[in-house]
Amino acid sequence: MIKMAFFDTKPYDRIWFDRLKDDYGIKIKYYESKLNSDSVVMAKDYDGVIAFVNDDLDKSTIDTMVDMKMKLIALRCAGYNNVDLKAAKNKIDVVRVPKYSPYAVAEHAIGLLLCLNRRIHRAYIRTKDFNFSLNGLTGFDLRGKTVGVIGTGKIGQVFIDICRGFGMKILAYDIYPSMENVEYTDIDTLCKKSDIISLHCPLTKETKHIISKKTIEKMKPGVFILNTSRGALINSDDLAESLKNGKIGGAALDVYEEESDIFFEDRSSEIINDDTLRILLSMPNVLITSHQAFLTNEALENIARVTLENIHSYFEKNTITNKVEG
Ligand code: NAI
Repeated sequence: MIKMAFFDTKPYDRIWFDRLKDDYGIKIKYYESKLNSDSVVMAKDYDGVIAFVNDDLDKSTIDTMVDMKMKLIALRCAGYNNVDLKAAKNKIDVVRVPKYSPYAVAEHAIGLLLCLNRRIHRAYIRTKDFNFSLNGLTGFDLRGKTVGVIGTGKIGQVFIDICRGFGMKILAYDIYPSMENVEYTDIDTLCKKSDIISLHCPLTKETKHIISKKTIEKMKPGVFILNTSRGALINSDDLAESLKNGKIGGAALDVYEEESDIFFEDRSSEIINDDTLRILLSMPNVLITSHQAFLTNEALENIARVTLENIHSYFEKNTITNKVEG
């Protein structure tokens, strides 16, 4: 039987993996710890690991896996910016789930936009306290507004389709433009013309801090920024500063630059040692969810099914599906 060590396990992860694993002849040991250069030893005697977005697959973790004769890193996510692919090249294979539900992420981005714009997060808390005042809750019509979409892959395309339903104008920026009926432009023009900017590109060397002081300066005053992609696409300090001085009108973030030691856990009894995050959370026009955009039943089922198929093909059919190339 194939033996895989599963890291950063949450109860919602197990549901579909437990339901499906026997169909693929895979035995799974679940660990709650994140995978990193210390915890990797717990995967000794396993054929590979099943890892998620904030597991740290740096050179040291990968070298230990190679020393332990492990064969496969099966990412149960689409992004792979947390894997040192150079360290893995020709030593251990990496597979991922390239597409599990672009709808889940795009719909969450839209949910954040509606909530932020119409101040639903504030209204919810007010009415719970029998405060029925509307002061400070004014939003704007989305119809006729321009949304700038950075990255028009699977998620960006679904996001654009939904925005069209609202009667919004679309501007897009992508290094590989793929949509036919969309106006593509350069990043500067997108910044200048957009009322809302939504990020749907991967985190790479080129896209790190694509939203920073330099790009924010070019934006319309009062612009909304949505990030359901990866935290480090935005320079968080520059974002906080621009929210403070009013240049940015609101931000909705499902991801955060320094999320790996914070997100996915209940930290309500701790003092968070991250001043930027605390400043962002203190602002009424900032909405943060904890990397939740993927979390639908459909996505969880697809993640489990494709991850298990990837592992089964690799060990039983000698075929690498959904390989991440270094
Ligand atoms: P995709 O690969 O289908 O699309 C990404 C698009 O970004 C492509 O069209 C690509 O050409 C473009 N791109 C690449 N480099 C670029 C650059 N330098 N400038 C502009 N565009 C660039 O990926 P998909 O499935 O649409 O996912 C997008 C991102 O969403 C993922 O990389 C991941 O980081 C994030 N994600 C977040 C989730 C969450 O729960 N918050 C869940 C799943 C994905």
